[in-house]
Amino acid sequence: MSKAEIGLIGLGTMGAALALNIADNGFDIAVWNRTTSTTKKFFDGAGDLAPRITPTETLRELVEAIAEPRAIILMVPAGQAVDDQIKALRPLLGPNDLLIDAGNANFHDTNRRAREADDLPFLGIGVSGGEEGARFGPSIMGGGKREYWDRVAHILTAISAKHNETPCATWMGEEGAGHFVKAVHNGIEYADMQMIAEVYGIMRDGLGHDNAAMAEIFARWDRGPLQSYLIEISGKVAGAVDPKTGQPMLDLIVDAAGQKGTGRWTAIEAQHLAAPIPAIEAAVVARNLSSQRDMRQLGEDVFGTAPQLIADGVLDIETLEKALIAGKILCYAQGFGMISKASDEFGWSLPLPDIAKVWRAGCIIRSSMLDDMATALEANATQNLMFAPFFSELLKENQTALRQVVSLSATHGLPAPALSSALAYFDTMRTSRGTANMIQGQRDFFGAHGFERTDDGSSDQHGPWAMNA
Ligand code: 6PG
Repeated sequence: MSKAEIGLIGLGTMGAALALNIADNGFDIAVWNRTTSTTKKFFDGAGDLAPRITPTETLRELVEAIAEPRAIILMVPAGQAVDDQIKALRPLLGPNDLLIDAGNANFHDTNRRAREADDLPFLGIGVSGGEEGARFGPSIMGGGKREYWDRVAHILTAISAKHNETPCATWMGEEGAGHFVKAVHNGIEYADMQMIAEVYGIMRDGLGHDNAAMAEIFARWDRGPLQSYLIEISGKVAGAVDPKTGQPMLDLIVDAAGQKGTGRWTAIEAQHLAAPIPAIEAAVVARNLSSQRDMRQLGEDVFGTAPQLIADGVLDIETLEKALIAGKILCYAQGFGMISKASDEFGWSLPLPDIAKVWRAGCIIRSSMLDDMATALEANATQNLMFAPFFSELLKENQTALRQVVSLSATHGLPAPALSSALAYFDTMRTSRGTANMIQGQRDFFGAHGFERTDDGSSDQHGPWAMNA
C-alpha cells in the first residue's frame, strides 16, 4: 500500500474535521489519536473518504505510514501537550521530517519551538473557522521557515477556504508569525462579538425588542455593509427556539462568556507592544465581568438594575447599524495597527494586505468589509486603516450614530464598553492637543520625571512645584 502524503495527530473536533478535509481534497493521510477508540470511531465514520485514510494505533505505526520526508500536523491542546507530543515524536522522525502545530498556540511558544527545532523542521499555523471551517475550508495563517511552508503549501491551499477562487492560506513570516496573526484575529473576533452583543443588549433592554424581531434585524444587516459570518450567526442565535421547551434559545443561555484565552493573549501582547487596542481589551474585560454573576446580582440588589428603556422614537435601528459599522472599522484599525507594530518589533514584515485577504473567507471574522480593507491596505499598509479614504469617509458618515448610541447607552444604563472605547479611540485619534500634559505635570510633581516644553521643545524640564504653593 502506498504511503500517506501527510499525517495528523489529534482527532478532536477540529483535528477530525481537518483530516476529513485533507482526504476530501485527494491527499492520503495517516491519523493517530492518543485514545485508539477515537481513531477507530473516526475511521468508521469516514464513509467514502476511508480509502484515503490510514488509521494507526501507535506513534511508530503513524510515522511509518507516511512517505518521507514526512509532514505531520499536530492538533492537540495548546501548551504543554504540544511540547509533550514533539518529545514523543522526535526519536521516531528523520532529520527532514516536518511538524506542523495547527492548534491555537501562543506565538511565543511557537517562536521557542521553531528555534529549538533546529534539527527538526517546524511550522506553526493559525487555523480559523471552527469545525465547519476545518472541514470545508478554513483560513490558514502560516508561520515558520518559508521553505517548510512551501513543502506543504499545495495541501494547505487546497484545503483552505477560497475567496473568488483565491485560497485563504498564506505564509505570514518566520517562527510564530502565523500564530501571532491568528491571535490578533481572535482579538478582533472578541471585539466584533462584543459589539454585536452590546447592540443586542440595547435592542433587548433599551428598545424592548423580542428575539424574533432581533433575528430579523440581524438578517437584514447581513444583507448590507455589515455582511459577515458573525452577524449572520448572531441572527440565527437570536432566532433559535429551544427544542426542549419551545422557548427562545437565547433566553435560556447563561450570560457568562467562556474564553479559552486567545483574546486575552492578544490584550497582554498589545500592552507589551504599546499597541492601542481598546475595543479588543474592552471585549476581554467584558468577558471577565460576565463571569462575575454573583457580583452583578449583588450590584443590582444594592443599586437597582442598570438598563432602562429608551423612549419610543429616540433611537432607530438604522442608527444602531451605522454605529456598528463605525465600531467595526475602529476595532479592525486597532487590530491591524497591532499587527503593524509587531511586524516592526519582531522583524517579520507581516503582509497586512494579504492578512486582510486571508480573512475574507473561512475564518470567524470573515466579512465583505475585509475586501475593502485589503484594497485600502494595498494602497497604504503603513497608515492607520481609519485614515484610508474609503474608511475615513465611512467614519465621517457613521460617527454621529456611534456617538448617539454610546450616549444613549450611558444615559440608559446599557453597558457598551467596546463601542464606548471605540468612540473614545476615535476622538483621541483626532485630538491634536490632548490631556497628557496634565499626566506629565503630575509625574514631574511627585517623581521629577521631567517633561518637554511646547514653546522651545526643550526636554527633561521640571516645573515650579511646591505642595503648599
Ligand atoms: C477560530 C476561533 C477558535 C476559537 C475558539 C474558542 O478562529 O476558529 O477563533 O480558534 O479559539 O472558538 O475561542 P474562545 O474560547 O477564546 O472564545
